[in-house]
Amino acid sequence: MSQILVTGGAGFIGSHTCVELLKYDYEIVVVDNLCNSKSAAIDRIEKISGKKIKFYHADICDYDALNTVFKENDISAVIHFAGLKAVGESVRKPLEYYTNNIYGTLVLLKAMRDNNCKRIVFSSSATVYGMNNEAPYTEDMPTSATNPYGYTKVMIEQILRDCCIADSDMSVVALRYFNPIGAHKSGLIGEDPNGIPNNLVPYIAQVAAGRLEQLSVFGDDYDTPDGTGVRDYIHVVDLASGHVCAIDYAMNHSGFEAVNLGTGNGSSVLEVVAAYEKACGKPINKRIAPRRSGDIATCFADASKAKRLFGWEAKSDITEMCADSWNFTKMNPNGIE
Ligand code: NAD
Ligand code: UFG
Repeated sequence: MSQILVTGGAGFIGSHTCVELLKYDYEIVVVDNLCNSKSAAIDRIEKISGKKIKFYHADICDYDALNTVFKENDISAVIHFAGLKAVGESVRKPLEYYTNNIYGTLVLLKAMRDNNCKRIVFSSSATVYGMNNEAPYTEDMPTSATNPYGYTKVMIEQILRDCCIADSDMSVVALRYFNPIGAHKSGLIGEDPNGIPNNLVPYIAQVAAGRLEQLSVFGDDYDTPDGTGVRDYIHVVDLASGHVCAIDYAMNHSGFEAVNLGTGNGSSVLEVVAAYEKACGKPINKRIAPRRSGDIATCFADASKAKRLFGWEAKSDITEMCADSWNFTKMNPNGIE
């Protein structure tokens, strides 16, 4: 059976994708430097799946370490999650973001080339649609960015496109995620951010758990049905299953494809709060705050390309996503340890 190298496999989306890949009997090799995750996540993936993973505690910027991983295994494809992802932090630390995300990807691509590995599924983001397109976003829209994190995604997509032009055997699927939330039904893996969460659902989860006082709703005067921001929230397990489809696709096609992974539906901040209140059975303390700079009113996917190319579509609704997030939060009051 094929071995898949999963960079960043101990993280939120990576860990769920590992579980999904193991379900389909892929053998997995994980490389993670644990800068935003814990090795306990690897134990939990093994516990859920009843299967073993080969884990390398290594940095993707370290060519020798990656080369060793390729030499010691028979890697037929890579799923590349490893990266820094906090938008605000990227504005304060652009060099760290460009180095880790872009240089790290270049090192990975060089190690792949030197070891004749030609298939990669990359974690891109709906952030590449920038501020100037209108939802629903289709993959042919022009891409742009407003912060260093977003630029890393736009640039890496371009680098991958160029690699496909240079080598017609190369196969790349850039998956543009919308807003992944939720957790595995077991409650063993989920989103475990360091410090105070930036994203909506992890923040609500901590208010529900009594660890944070109050949610700030960033703006209620947007041009949306209830005035609050609208996003396309997608269950992380649905997202993970999209990666298995993308790997299958990459095994049988060459060239570059960008593919949205979203539900195609938008939910407002207040709708998410209401769904979470239902899930946890208590009110979420909140106040209306000013808009957060850089936020747009509405972002949701046209999800038809993933259906056409992969036969994939998201299954879970926002109620189920919030219920699974709350289950994980309750079961892990101190995160994954
Ligand atoms: P995460 O932080 O939970 O996972 C990323 C993993 O990569 C972590 O385990 C971290 O330790 C590891 N890592 C980071 N830099 C590394 C390096 N140099 N070498 C080795 N390992 C390294 O984040 P996530 O939410 O699972 O996101 C995974 C990918 O998806 C990221 O590339 C992110 O930009 C992208 N993405 C995430 C979202 C989201 O909302 N979560 C949305 C769009 C795109
Ligand atoms: N929001 C609040 N209060 C909070 C946090 C968020 O009201 O405390 C609002 C935001 O204003 C926005 C919505 O909740 O309207 C969602 O915000 P998130 O921070 O959860 O998600 P974003 O859509 O801003 O961004 C996320 C990732 C980006 C990624 C993008 C698209 O953080 O990296 O999804 O995939 F690019």
